[in-house]
Amino acid sequence: MKPYTFLLLLCLALTVRAQEAAQPSCGDCHDEAKAFVTNPHARGAVVKGVVPNDVCTTCHGDGAEHIESGGDKTKITVPRGLSGANDTCLLCHEETRGGMHANTNQVNCLTCHSIHKSDPRSPHLVAKPQLALCGTCHTQAASMRNKPFAHRLDRGGMTCSTCHDPHGRRAKGERSLALLGHLRTTRAGEAPCVSCHTEKRGPFVFSHGGLETGECTTCHETHGSSNPKQLVRATVQQVCIECHSPIAAATLGSQPPSFHNLSLPRYQNCTTCHVAVHGSNRDPQLLK
Ligand code: HEC
Ligand code: HEC
Ligand code: HEC
Ligand code: HEC
Ligand code: HEC
Ligand code: HEC
Ligand code: HEC
Ligand code: HEC
Ligand code: HEC
Ligand code: HEC
Repeated sequence: MKPYTFLLLLCLALTVRAQEAAQPSCGDCHDEAKAFVTNPHARGAVVKGVVPNDVCTTCHGDGAEHIESGGDKTKITVPRGLSGANDTCLLCHEETRGGMHANTNQVNCLTCHSIHKSDPRSPHLVAKPQLALCGTCHTQAASMRNKPFAHRLDRGGMTCSTCHDPHGRRAKGERSLALLGHLRTTRAGEAPCVSCHTEKRGPFVFSHGGLETGECTTCHETHGSSNPKQLVRATVQQVCIECHSPIAAATLGSQPPSFHNLSLPRYQNCTTCHVAVHGSNRDPQLLK
């Protein structure tokens, strides 16, 4: 090798090292950076398989002093708690502001989302599968897991957020499902149930009087039941008699005609005859 070639190479090497020293990557010291290549927050920004520091600093603040000090913890921001969530996440996710879950140090974006350690089975950077996550605060999860008649959650199909918008609004006292701010209604504003059980949607020529709004939860237990078909009562008869009492005084619906002898087993399972209990296009008595 000629001496000047050697010098040239040496110069080159030194320049490269100098540049590296001037711009260390967060990834030089943090494994979080490697995993971040597939994070939605790096989408479109990855350069040659490396996440540029700019991506990290959108949430962690300017890292220059942190790097210069060789990793002084006090010179870098970590978003934590409600203020961390508000000051960081809401910069870009304005649409999630003001929901029922984003108000306190105990419940905020960072309770449910983990930027670096989300569960691989849970899309959208959700920290853990929802039966476990939501179940830390809500008894409905245990009910859905344990009751014999329930939608099965977290097996790749349905989960809590299939029916609920976790960023939605609380609506205590509101009775119409379609108006509950925490439910995902269909585009037509109906209860989430009919997006899957479309045959129950209607409108029917003969709708089941008073239940036209599709309030499925009048008769079905949403979060799992001890009764077959997730009914609110142990037998079909009990569900019906709540409104169709043979005692005229206490009835919301019509009285069953007198030939209905409820002491006969034949009349006890109402839906063997009233098969179209969800509404009929053919028969006002919901018999077909
Ligand atoms: C979208 C916001 C966001 C981005 C972008 C981001 N982080 Fe974080 N990071 C957080 C939050 C929030 C925490 C606090 C831990 C938690 O709640 O998940 C955190 C924690 C950390 C921690 C501390 C880990 C711990 O458990 O104490 C390190 C180190 C870190 N991030 C490095 C990085 C690096 C490197 C990048 C770029 C590759 C990056 N972060 C990009 C939000 C972000
Ligand atoms: C020269 C190595 C080095 C570089 C480069 C570096 N860090 Fe660090 N970082 C450290 C060390 C060391 C710690 C302290 C770890 C500990 O004490 O657990 C740390 C801690 C952190 C923490 C956690 C702070 C806390 O309170 O727990 C975050 C977040 C972080 N770094 C983000 C970044 C980001 C973002 C970059 C790029 C802009 C970066 N770091 C670049 C070495 C580095
Ligand atoms: C600098 C803007 C910015 C900040 C700050 C930010 N995000 Fe994001 N976030 C985005 C973008 C952009 C996407 C990707 C959207 C896309 O590609 O569909 C995203 C996606 C997400 C997703 C959806 C991931 C998916 O797979 O659908 C979640 C959850 C999320 N961010 C939570 C947070 C949380 C929590 C914080 C606060 C720690 C935060 N973000 C901070 C811009 C930001
Ligand atoms: C109670 C738990 C919970 C809280 C608190 C929460 N999220 Fe979410 N978030 C979820 C769940 C669960 C999903 C997945 C929804 C789905 O499956 O469609 C999600 C999805 C997202 C998405 C992706 C797509 C979408 O539905 O918009 C973004 C972005 C997001 N969250 C940002 C945030 C931000 C920002 C905050 C804080 C203001 C926040 N989340 C607070 C549970 C939560
Ligand atoms: C860390 C505790 C916590 C976690 C985790 C949590 N929640 Fe909540 N949730 C609350 C609190 C507290 C409220 C009541 C808010 C209020 O009173 O304003 C609430 C309210 C609700 C409501 C509305 C109740 C009403 O009365 O209107 C629904 C629905 C709900 N959460 C569903 C979920 C789902 C689904 C998840 C999981 C994606 C979840 N929650 C995770 C604490 C939590
Ligand atoms: C099949 C749809 C569906 C699924 C799945 C679902 N919910 Fe609900 N949830 C509803 C409906 C509808 C309501 C409102 C009527 C009611 O209380 O039955 C509701 C109400 C709630 C309420 C408010 C209770 C109240 O008294 O107003 C909470 C909290 C809740 N759900 C949590 C959860 C959690 C946690 C999960 C997951 C473990 C979950 N839900 C899964 C449909 C669903
Ligand atoms: C995401 C689609 C989906 C949504 C939304 C949904 N269901 Fe279901 N439902 C199913 C599936 C699939 C089954 C059967 C498998 C199972 O049990 O998980 C089922 C089963 C049922 C059953 C029991 C059927 C039987 O033969 O035992 C009832 C009752 C029911 N759902 C009512 C409802 C009600 C009420 C709602 C709204 C609160 C609702 N469903 C929302 C998909 C859905
Ligand atoms: C008036 C009470 C009542 C209302 C309201 C009601 N159901 Fe039912 N549903 C029943 C009864 C009773 C059965 C059991 C029928 C049987 O076993 O013969 C049933 C059965 C079901 C089944 C399982 C069998 C089948 O027919 O597919 C599904 C799914 C179902 N209902 C969904 C819904 C949905 C979705 C809504 C709201 C749109 C709803 N139900 C509203 C009383 C009701
Ligand atoms: C929440 C109350 C309620 C429940 C529960 C209920 N119904 Fe009804 N049902 C009504 C009302 C209200 C009408 C309309 C009555 C009228 O127009 O006088 C009606 C109408 C009917 C009709 C049509 C005949 C008529 O008088 O219009 C039949 C048949 C019927 N119900 C059967 C049933 C059966 C079977 C069940 C149990 C699976 C049931 N109902 C549960 C409230 C209810
Ligand atoms: C063996 C078949 C059968 C069974 C079981 C049965 N019904 Fe009926 N039900 C009928 C027939 C048929 C009619 C229509 C009578 C008519 O058109 O005069 C009817 C009519 C009705 C009506 C309409 C009354 C009106 O004013 O038009 C109601 C309400 C009713 N049944 C409720 C019930 C309830 C509640 C049960 C369960 C306790 C039940 N039925 C079980 C066959 C049955």
